[in-house]
Amino acid sequence: MIASPLIAHRGASLLAPENTLGAMTKTRDIGTPWVEIDVNRLGDGTLVMFHDDQLGRLTSARGRLCDQRWEDVQSLDIGSHFSADYSGERMARLSQALDHIQALDLGLNLEIKVYPEFTPEQIVFDTIKALDTQWHNFGKLLISSFNTEVLDLLHHWRPSWQCGHLWERIPNDWARRADALNLVSVHCDHRFLTPELARSIRASGLDLYCYTVNDRERAAQLMDLGVDGIITDDPVLLGSTR
Ligand code: G3P
Ligand code: MG
Repeated sequence: MIASPLIAHRGASLLAPENTLGAMTKTRDIGTPWVEIDVNRLGDGTLVMFHDDQLGRLTSARGRLCDQRWEDVQSLDIGSHFSADYSGERMARLSQALDHIQALDLGLNLEIKVYPEFTPEQIVFDTIKALDTQWHNFGKLLISSFNTEVLDLLHHWRPSWQCGHLWERIPNDWARRADALNLVSVHCDHRFLTPELARSIRASGLDLYCYTVNDRERAAQLMDLGVDGIITDDPVLLGSTR
């Protein structure tokens, strides 16, 4: 198994504001060894830790990410929507997130987002650059994406990096696609995982990760099916150690 049995989704987003440095610290504090974050791209090319293609859900500003420059967004408060205790949280660049996650000694599931306003190349090459410069232990890095082109580029340019395909429903030809991309894992929406699929994926030697599970009973069922790791907003509820 590459990651840990519990992975903090966006940094445990029921316990701290999603995709913030504070949420990474919370992940470490509750004893969850791995964190999942989203890397996204502003209009000026800056890579940031942020899920949406719009500012509105998490900040008091409006607008599309593709219309922002770093200087437009760096002072936006992305913690207050969660609680006043986190009002100091600001959007982090990918480089800041990578530093912080390594300082906390966490493993990283880095999800590469692609929105229609930019191309896979535009986010992949800069992500590669950031990881080449900053990341130290590639055993503690698992990259995932819903976008096959992203995984294809990574396979071509950094064939030794550990990558997994994200799907909602796992397609019938998952084994062929995993083989073509030399993947190490399959990540799926837990609601669409069948026992048969779980068995065949595990038998193929690939790791299997399910998102987003915030229910203890469902987590136990998935573990019984042989799932390697559960991506959750609340690792404490699901049994993290602290
Ligand atoms: O990596 C699993 C999960 O994060 C995928 O969905 O939309 O929460 O990024 P989303
Ligand atoms: Mg994600």
